[in-house]
Order: sequence, then structure tokens, then C-alpha cells
Amino acid sequence: MRLEDKVAIITGSGSGIGRATAQLFAEEGAKVVVAEINLEGANETVQSIQSAGGEAVSVEADVSKEEDSRKIADLAYCEYGKIDILVNNAAAFVFGRVEDATTEDWDHVFSVNVKGPAFCVKAVLPVMKQGSSGAIVNIGSISSMIAQPDYVPYNTSKSAILNFTRCLAMDLAPFNIRVNTVCPGVTHTPALEKAIQEEGITLEEANAHLNQPCLLKRLGQPREIAHGILFLASDDASFVTGTSLLVDGGYTAQ
Ligand SMILES: NC(=O)c1ccc[n+]([C@@H]2O[C@H](COP(=O)([O-])OP(=O)(O)OC[C@H]3O[C@@H](n4cnc5c(N)ncnc54)[C@H](O)[C@@H]3O)[C@@H](O)[C@H]2O)c1
Repeated sequence: MRLEDKVAIITGSGSGIGRATAQLFAEEGAKVVVAEINLEGANETVQSIQSAGGEAVSVEADVSKEEDSRKIADLAYCEYGKIDILVNNAAAFVFGRVEDATTEDWDHVFSVNVKGPAFCVKAVLPVMKQGSSGAIVNIGSISSMIAQPDYVPYNTSKSAILNFTRCLAMDLAPFNIRVNTVCPGVTHTPALEKAIQEEGITLEEANAHLNQPCLLKRLGQPREIAHGILFLASDDASFVTGTSLLVDGGYTAQ
């Protein structure tokens, strides 16, 4: 087992990629803190882990609020006595053209997608430093790397994550804390389902339209992304820091 006795916090793990990551981490021996704004989703994830024989606990938290990030870290420490891994996965999906985005849109997308990861890192650092080790995995996107039509607020926030990762990797290396990003391609999650419903198209149409550049010509599955996150969170990646791993079916290769 690759995460035996490790304690992992995964934000936004009541759904999609976060849930698949929580389940995979628990299968690999981690004790998982499922941090979510949606407590019902978090409890479902915890239940699925516990019924498979794993260990997990849920906490209701909005990562855009600094006090909630402290609540997550406190709960992890009180429950399990240490924090080895933080996966910053929760995200707000705010799309549109620059002329349509409101002040509230910009505040929301940056509060959840950029300030949220920063607050969570700040909250876990005292415990990680005390243990002289840690692995932080931020979730970016192909949208961190490329332009997509009418995606300005989301893509701007997701590209910020790449330099957030590099800067943290530099500052935290002396404490043996590694920081990396996983950039998923178009992945079949509830967030994607919602986006295509709003566009009024079918999943097949979405795949053909949204995913046309994908070399493998299909949507990713949440568990396929979770395997990339597992690699960077585990000691298999002990010499990897400050970088990003694209798990995108070759979407950005051409
Ligand atoms: N699905 C894709 O195609 C895709 C592609 C590239 C990157 N991503 C990234 O993967 C990550 C997961 O996306 P997903 O598709 O699984 O989405 P999802 O909507 O299925 O899951 C995201 C979860 O985050 C939670 N969340 C939202 N705001 C929160 C907040 N303020 N505090 C705590 N929790 C909050 C939601 O309740 C939800 O359960 C995101 O970072 C997303 O940007 C997804």
C-alpha cells in the first residue's frame, strides 16, 4: 500500500475527482479527511470508504474562508495526530467572456480556486513542518495551460495555480514539503454533467465538441485523474516538486 498510515486532507472530495481520490487514497492505506462545502456529498464519500474497510472523516468547510481552512487542519490533527498530504481539489466553475464577468464572479472564482488553496496550505503548514515532511497536490486543469473560448475567469484562476505551486515548492523545500499540480483533461464528473446540461447538449455532443483535441478521443474518468494525484502524493514522487502533471489523454499535446 502506497499511503500506509498517511493522513490526507482532500478538499471538494464529496464529488467527482475529489471523491475518486479519497477512495483511492483510502484503498492505499491513508486516513482521509473529506473537506466539503456540501456535507451530504462528503458523508456519502466517507460512507463509501468505510464500507470498503477504509478510514475517513468528513468536515463541512468552505475553503474560501480562512477560518474554515483552520477548522479542517484542526480536525485532521485532533482526529489523526498528523497531516502528511493536502490535495487542493475544490473549485468554482465560473466561465464567460471578460465583458460578462462581474466583480462578484472574479471574487468568487479567485476566492475558491486561488485563495482557498493558499488558506489550506497556511493551515496545514505548522503540522507538516513539525513532521519535517509533506506532500501538497494542487488541482489545475488543461485550462491552466491553454486558451478556451469564453472561459476567462476560470482559466485565469487555474493558470495562477501553476505559479502558486512553483513558489510554494521553492519556499517549502527546506522543510521537505513537496508541492506539485495535477492538470486533468475533460473528465466525466458531476461538474461536467452540469456544464453540458446548461449548454443543452448531450454527453456525446459535448465529447465531440469539447474534447475534439483529445488524442485518446474520450472523456477521462475521475479514477484516472486520481492515479496521477496518488503518484505525486506518495513517496514514489519523492524527488518531484514544483512541477505539473498533465492527465489529459493528450489534449494539450498538439
Ligand atoms: N471535470 C473536469 O473536466 C475537470 C477538468 C480539469 C480540471 N478539473 C478540476 O478538478 C477538480 C474537481 O473537479 P470535478 O469535476 O470533480 O468537480 P465537482 O463539482 O464534481 O467536485 C467539486 C467539489 O468541490 C466542492 N466545492 C466547491 N466549492 C467549494 C468550497 N468553496 N469549499 C469546499 N468545497 C467546495 C463541491 O461541493 C464539489 O463537491 C477541480 O479543481 C476542477 O477545476 C476538472
